[in-house]
Amino acid sequence: MELTKEQIEIGKDNFTEAATSDVLVHDTSGGVKIPRREFLKGAAAGGVGLGAYYFGYQALSGEKVRTAFVGVGDEGNVLITEHPDDYMDIVAIADIRKKNIERTIKGSHPVARIGLEKKLGAAKTKTIQRYDSFQALLAAKDELKLEAVVIAVPLSHHAPLAIMALQAGLHVLCEKLMAHNVTECKQMIKAARDANKLLTVGHQRHYSVLYDNANFLVKQGLLGDIRHIHAQWHRNNSFKGSDSWRKFVKLRPDEKKQLEELEAAGLTELYEFAGKKYGYETAQQLVDWRLYNATGGGIMAELGSHQMDAASIFLGKVHPLAVQGYGGRNFYGVKNIGTSDKQADDRDIDDHVYVTLEFPGKYYDASDNPHDKCIVTYSSLNTNRHGGYGERIMGSRGTMIVKTEKEVVLHKEATAGSAGGPDQRLWVVNSGSAGPALDSYETTGPSAAAKSLTAGAGLGDNISRGYREEMEHFCHCIRTQGPNFWPNGQPLPPNDGGPRCNGVIAMADAIMALTSNLAMKHQKRIVFKDEWFDFENDAAPETDSEIVGS
Ligand SMILES: NC(=O)c1ccc[n+]([C@@H]2O[C@H](COP(=O)([O-])OP(=O)(O)OC[C@H]3O[C@@H](n4cnc5c(N)ncnc54)[C@H](O)[C@@H]3O)[C@@H](O)[C@H]2O)c1
Repeated sequence: MELTKEQIEIGKDNFTEAATSDVLVHDTSGGVKIPRREFLKGAAAGGVGLGAYYFGYQALSGEKVRTAFVGVGDEGNVLITEHPDDYMDIVAIADIRKKNIERTIKGSHPVARIGLEKKLGAAKTKTIQRYDSFQALLAAKDELKLEAVVIAVPLSHHAPLAIMALQAGLHVLCEKLMAHNVTECKQMIKAARDANKLLTVGHQRHYSVLYDNANFLVKQGLLGDIRHIHAQWHRNNSFKGSDSWRKFVKLRPDEKKQLEELEAAGLTELYEFAGKKYGYETAQQLVDWRLYNATGGGIMAELGSHQMDAASIFLGKVHPLAVQGYGGRNFYGVKNIGTSDKQADDRDIDDHVYVTLEFPGKYYDASDNPHDKCIVTYSSLNTNRHGGYGERIMGSRGTMIVKTEKEVVLHKEATAGSAGGPDQRLWVVNSGSAGPALDSYETTGPSAAAKSLTAGAGLGDNISRGYREEMEHFCHCIRTQGPNFWPNGQPLPPNDGGPRCNGVIAMADAIMALTSNLAMKHQKRIVFKDEWFDFENDAAPETDSEIVGS
């Protein structure tokens, strides 16, 4: 079931060898076909950034995009650390928690959250305006000459803040999951269209050079017929104090004091939008928002959505056919286990989920060819971290494992005529009319040519997870796509240079995650409906009477 260290190393070498193969032909974003190895040599030679090279955008032409970050908690700080300061000019930050504004200045982690002073210097940091609410930021938008916002607040506030920003004439990069429900996703897309502004969503795998390489190999057909993908995110929160989503109990006294003040001033009605009041029931809900249905979307929204996104990227971004699943509070909801005091927990969300999605194969036809399906299974545990997180793509000719967004392992299937399996090295051969194929390779490592390309071409260690590239591309699109960001009333497709994760693409990810939640809640196999994926149609799974009753 598990790979040895040697098998992982062989698998990583195999991926490098295949990804750099000169047998494979790369179709650049400009439509030019060049040998893959030549393409990667261009990446290794430097020039524009790695993301710009791979995805075919340019260094920014024109002024940097004047941007504010809204919600500077854990993820906001990751994004600020990663932000491309040659594309983006941070002019303001906004957050209702004073302590999080302070830590954004000073930093709170030596690598992941270094803070503005370390990233941009003390002098520049002094010029960055700070606001204690989104409304105060919006009121100052003209003075700031603000063009765009990056939103990283809890899920229940994504849609109202994004729509208000769009209606105020700002471009929006909103963190994932796109919104708390599918109706809100549709409202966000329509708001962007009506305002003629960009709306992109932070599913960073769309901008990961590593995933792009992995997907390139999948598209070449090297894995053969893909009938199964297993994705997982396994954690163990059963130890005392180990739950990274239960943050409130771990706050410092000064942070708690500031939150008490916020709560006393009234957190429940922070602002009103479209006749609805938005806020948090308590300071604890604001901090531990992931654990409650009113503010979060559970494991599928936080973790599963990333990996359903990855699975659907590998399957060509087709929409799934159906979903079923089981979710439960099998740890936090159980009484008298006697192992710890953890079970005294008021969370709403499931702590273990198991979801099965059916995707259509290339020749799927409901009446004529109904068996052409690829099954994607997903598990997320809270009591065992074995295997960590990643996606395993299982084809009839090979297996590819993407681990922690950082490394890819590739193994060939054995056949009667040639060896394979996790102990075999491989290379890519041209098998004539059948196209490129994996062959086994009796040697000790990747070819010299492959090895020489690895680091410079973005295939070595220290790989970017895609945050930087998603922000670069967002700014690039703002400068190049105007004045018409919505040609024919639709977002410009990624293949034509539009954002790689626009609102419509991100809504499909939200539909998968949120419908999985409904399948688990109602214990039903739910068939996805085309109209849910159409932003001009108001149909949504959460209001579908076949799922939720009338
Ligand atoms: N792409 C990824 O890999 C990734 C990883 C982690 C989190 N996220 C997403 O980022 C978002 C934020 O997550 P986080 O972990 O940083 O949460 P967090 O609780 O650490 O930070 C949220 C911040 O938003 C602030 N906030 C809440 N409501 C606000 C409002 N109305 N106006 C202004 N500020 C407000 C909070 O005070 C807090 O500082 C979520 O949508 C989450 O799903 C994405």
